[in-house]
Amino acid sequence: MATTNLQSKKSGYSPELDDGERASRDEITALQTKRLAATLARVYENVAHYRKAFDKAGVKPADFRQLSDLKNFPFTVKTDLRDNYPFNMFAVPREKLVRIHASSGTTGKPIVVGYTKADIDTWSELMARSIRAAGGRGGMIIHNAYGYGLFTGGLGVHYGAEKLGCTVVPISGGMTERQVQLIDDFRPDIITVTPSYMLAILDEFKRQGLDPRQSSLKIGIFGAEPWTNAMRSEIEHSFDMDATDIYGLSEVMGPGVAQECIETKDGLHIWEDHFYPEVIDPETGAVLPDGEKGELVFTSLTKEAFPVIRYRTRDLTRLLPGTARPGMRRMEKVTGRSDDMIILRGVNVFPTQIEEVLLATDWCGGHFIIELTREGRMDVMTVLAEARPGSWNSSGLTEQTDLVTHHIKNTTGIHAIIRAVPPDTLERSLGKARRVFDKRPKE
Ligand code: DLL
Repeated sequence: MATTNLQSKKSGYSPELDDGERASRDEITALQTKRLAATLARVYENVAHYRKAFDKAGVKPADFRQLSDLKNFPFTVKTDLRDNYPFNMFAVPREKLVRIHASSGTTGKPIVVGYTKADIDTWSELMARSIRAAGGRGGMIIHNAYGYGLFTGGLGVHYGAEKLGCTVVPISGGMTERQVQLIDDFRPDIITVTPSYMLAILDEFKRQGLDPRQSSLKIGIFGAEPWTNAMRSEIEHSFDMDATDIYGLSEVMGPGVAQECIETKDGLHIWEDHFYPEVIDPETGAVLPDGEKGELVFTSLTKEAFPVIRYRTRDLTRLLPGTARPGMRRMEKVTGRSDDMIILRGVNVFPTQIEEVLLATDWCGGHFIIELTREGRMDVMTVLAEARPGSWNSSGLTEQTDLVTHHIKNTTGIHAIIRAVPPDTLERSLGKARRVFDKRPKE
């Protein structure tokens, strides 16, 4: 065995930075101003949607002189992209695209995004930077369990890992038994996967009688869905590894828009040399000062094929000053999307708040779903929380579940019925977990 319980696999870390990461705040601001001006001019020239939207708002690219002028330009929302399905948002002729990705889109048409050769190079650079910030180095083996295909996770990570000089195992999602077998056989240093699927991999380790703490995995790069610091502790402790957060979205690029640095693990540094972030009040659209929580908005600074201006992500977070990379701001861990917010009898709650409370218990390992139903005129929230193997008893853990109900009431103000279910009964996600099942009658 390479490690013992006394000697952690988590090793010392000395950062390795590229020029962008070394830039000062002033240098980043100057670069952003220059790149934003060029981007606004280019989309006005090349994308009919932006020309119309700018004209309607009465702004011209030349009105942009400093970063604070961006607030006068119109937002872009998901429906703008849908309305221009499939190829009308591109700023280059279709022939210049070397790749297309698309978001699954549970309703209606998917969102289609495209990349030129230069865009793929930039994305690979930023993904390589992200893996490096997570502690990855050339020569390491990466087990990449993000889905390959139209989803940006698999290929996005893949190209970055190759760029960094890693050996990539492109396993994609699913076939959990095989995932564990290959981790055991190939001895990867890094795993890239959604945090919810990492829990399924953890279960499979135990099922196969393998000790996850003795696995070769040292670094996890987890994202594509909201997850909490409680989940980080669960994963880090179970595998004796460092777990870092990666953020991105197809519309802005894919994974690698922001990444948590392993030396601080204090939120995600946004790669501000390529993306300009704003946080707005989701109701009024007003730009909020750094430190205030609201909806994250991005403008791309270097993208050729699919530039986005003030794209409303619906993700809720706040901007914080840079730490491990002082020139770039951080975003706090995303608590959830405004779409995932559950409104129950007038009180708002996010699945991440439930996750936090469940993981604070010793009987639930983080597998849970939320069901919303209506009884009479009352909305009811029931959380099905899976017990850890060994914690389950036939009484259904009533005392323990009552405690969780109490904690949730105290922290969120919501009354939730907690129902413990036996180990291995909730369906596992192979990618992004679906947490909320709204069974209330549609009005
Ligand atoms: O999920 C890209 C990605 C792949 C990111 C792999 C990280 C790792 P989409 O499928 O377009 O792209 O979904 C984007 O997922 O707007 C967030 O709501 C959510 N999301 C992504 N990363 C995080 C994260 C990919 N670290 C949407 N924390 C985003 C919370 C995240 N939510």
